[in-house]
Amino acid sequence: MTIVVKRVDVELTKPIRAQILRPGLPLSHSSYPGEENPRSGAFAAFEGDAILGVSSVMPEQCPWNPNIGDAWRLRGMAVLPQARNRGVGARLLEAALTHVRAEAGKFIWCNARVPALSLYLRAGFTIEGEEFELPHIGPHRQMWLAL
Ligand SMILES: CC(C)(COP(=O)(O)OP(=O)(O)OC[C@H]1O[C@@H](n2cnc3c(N)ncnc32)[C@H](O)[C@@H]1OP(=O)(O)O)[C@@H](O)C(=O)NCCC(=O)NCCS
Repeated sequence: MTIVVKRVDVELTKPIRAQILRPGLPLSHSSYPGEENPRSGAFAAFEGDAILGVSSVMPEQCPWNPNIGDAWRLRGMAVLPQARNRGVGARLLEAALTHVRAEAGKFIWCNARVPALSLYLRAGFTIEGEEFELPHIGPHRQMWLAL
């Protein structure tokens, strides 16, 4: 079946965020500041009616360089285990980047989990600074892309 990536109501993305990114924690841990901003975007990949994965972007200051104007943050990238390695993550990332470009955003950053670095590197992101640990989640790197 064909996979379709669409902009969706952010509420639709939260159960998959919770399942993949915050397992065992209440759904309230899968909401992000700024995502209710009308400029923010949430995206889901569908195969038929089933959601395979999600992504989101929101305007948020770059933590290591607050002087960058109109910075955006990529968050909540998650694909169900059975749907991985088919390019769904890359398409969800591309949908987020396309949204930020359409909003005339010039800079996007994220805290990337180390096992997911290759996804962002393939899309042209650059690593910033040293590896750091987020408690209960694991090692991360800050990454950015100029649009
Ligand atoms: C990270 C994550 C979102 C990637 O999703 P995905 O759908 O597997 O992403 P893609 O398929 O685009 O890319 C993953 C791999 O599949 C490969 N791939 C892409 N299209 C492919 C295809 N058509 N056939 C075979 N392999 C393919 C890519 O080369 C890539 O390999 P690499 O990462 O070893 O270089 C997913 O693994 C996930 O949800 N992980 C757990 C949560 C997480 O870490 N989220 C990111 C937080 S920063």
